Amino acid sequence: MIERILLATGNAGKAAELARLLGCPVLPIEGWDPPIEDGSSFHDNARIKALAGAAQSPGEWVVADDSGIEVDALNGAPGVLSARFGGDGLDDAGRTAALLAAVADAEDRSARFRCVLVAIGPDGREHSADGTLEGRLAVAPRGANGFGYDPILIPAGLTRTCGELSADEKNAISHRGAAARALRDTLGL
Ligand code: IMP
Repeated sequence: MIERILLATGNAGKAAELARLLGCPVLPIEGWDPPIEDGSSFHDNARIKALAGAAQSPGEWVVADDSGIEVDALNGAPGVLSARFGGDGLDDAGRTAALLAAVADAEDRSARFRCVLVAIGPDGREHSADGTLEGRLAVAPRGANGFGYDPILIPAGLTRTCGELSADEKNAISHRGAAARALRDTLGL
């Protein structure tokens, strides 16, 4: 029986969102000291954060997540570099513009959001789960909801971008929701 899980983040909002998705209490780690995320995959980076969280919170269940967007025409980039694509000085609007410019001449506009969750138990055993939201890149940003690349990803089977979906509509199909449901099953929550 898992009574509570600590999320390797200092962000209480992220912990509250994961608590809703997992159906179990999730708290941010107090005094969270983030490690350098230098892995080459979402799993690597989630694991780096989960291991750091476990080291900072002995005896606890710890979960960490990593997520981003993969674009087929860019061979899977920006991937783990999603938060920094186009350079450090850009905001979300600048980053989406940079990504659209990078695929301006590409015929293949397929892309996906991915999320990997890594959980480590008090016994040190690791568990992981992942989720994907398949879609294609819009020609121009649309919608003011969500964050990051939401205004330019159109989920498969839809005509609206994630930025035009309500929070409930996006949660029902999102990579983060799918990863959380998979982890809930793996951990028997
Ligand atoms: P992180 O996992 O919070 O570090 O997110 C990495 C980056 O991926 C974010 O800064 C966003 O740019 C992008 N990203 C991850 N998930 C989403 C999403 O659900 N919508 C839009 N962008 C996302």
